[in-house]
Amino acid sequence: RGTLTVGDLAKLLHKDASEVIKKLLFLGVMATINQEIDMDAIMLIAGEYGVEVEVKIPVEEDAFETFEETDEAEDLMVRPPVVTIMGHVDHGKTTLLDAIRKTNVTGGEAGGITQHIGAYQVEINGKKITFLDTPGHEAFTMMRARGAQVTDITIIVVAADDGIMPQTVEAINHAKAAGVPIIVAVNKIDKPEANADKIKQEMTEYELVPEEWGGDTIFVEVSAKQRINLEGLLEMILLVAEVNEFKANPNKRARGTVIEAELDKGKGPVARILVQHGTLKIGDAFVAGNCFGRVRAMVNDRGRRLKEAGPSTPIEITGLTEVPQAGDPFLVFEDERKARAIAERRAIKQRQSDMGANTRVTLDDLFNHI
Ligand code: GTP
Ligand code: MG
Repeated sequence: RGTLTVGDLAKLLHKDASEVIKKLLFLGVMATINQEIDMDAIMLIAGEYGVEVEVKIPVEEDAFETFEETDEAEDLMVRPPVVTIMGHVDHGKTTLLDAIRKTNVTGGEAGGITQHIGAYQVEINGKKITFLDTPGHEAFTMMRARGAQVTDITIIVVAADDGIMPQTVEAINHAKAAGVPIIVAVNKIDKPEANADKIKQEMTEYELVPEEWGGDTIFVEVSAKQRINLEGLLEMILLVAEVNEFKANPNKRARGTVIEAELDKGKGPVARILVQHGTLKIGDAFVAGNCFGRVRAMVNDRGRRLKEAGPSTPIEITGLTEVPQAGDPFLVFEDERKARAIAERRAIKQRQSDMGANTRVTLDDLFNHI
């Protein structure tokens, strides 16, 4: 926040210093020519003359943007794959995940339509898999795009009685853009009108050719509702994970992504985050988007309290000062002071870009933004 002397301001405005002093006096500020006045007064005076003031707040390099993963190969350890379930609305994504988790999430959802990304971890034969459920409804394109950013493997769910629909195509495009392996789950094969071969045929138009047809895309035929061939699907996920060897260094400060966040009446701001690197611990100071905090409590997807969470673990945390946004990066810092400073800097930067691509603002704009 800069200051100027009255004399300098007058020069900048091409006015007499005495005139500026009079204006200031009129506004209730007593000042001499060599007196420093603050930004608010500068704005007011400039506004009086109808002059636009360009506000430039110097912002240091963003610790998030300059952050690089620099791990030695020997520090990297195998971590659970993060698997995102995508596909058209009502094709059975939540039911499928539900069947895999053997719990009932669909029952508790408003109207049975998934409105956010649910994050869960399951363990099969001692091997963990992290799942992200995404909404198929077209209003949630952004959220699906975010899901594709954090994922290692995408499962495209297609209902065998319905075929490839707009959000199926969108999901394929997201997965391709993210460059992640795709597994196609042909769902609802229990239905009499189900035609898995027709789905496979249609999928070839999107360069997803089944292995049995000489391509390299894994297709698995399942019924989420009748729990048919879920093992087959899980086996394929573990196989793809094994081939790709997804790794991370668990022995450093945590870094991840906010999956969703909200203000809870009792707990205050809560964020569901996916830890992607390092290990998050109770008491860690962090920045999430423009917010900062200190991890007060951590629970997993089954509501169990955790003391720490390593790579690929989805958790809910409390201890934030504000509610971050889904998709925000999450980063732990050495102490709370540093975290706060970085969050504040990010907030200023955000405000600047919100004010417009260029930072030329009129006094009116400014008042509307304060
Ligand atoms: P959104 O989250 O809204 O995109 O939908 P979704 O893809 O999660 O679909 P959901 O799991 O909510 O299932 C939609 C409907 O399809 C429900 O009525 C399910 O019971 C039904 N369904 C899901 N899987 C199967 C299946 O394998 N067979 C049959 N017959 N019905 C299924
Ligand atoms: Mg759903």
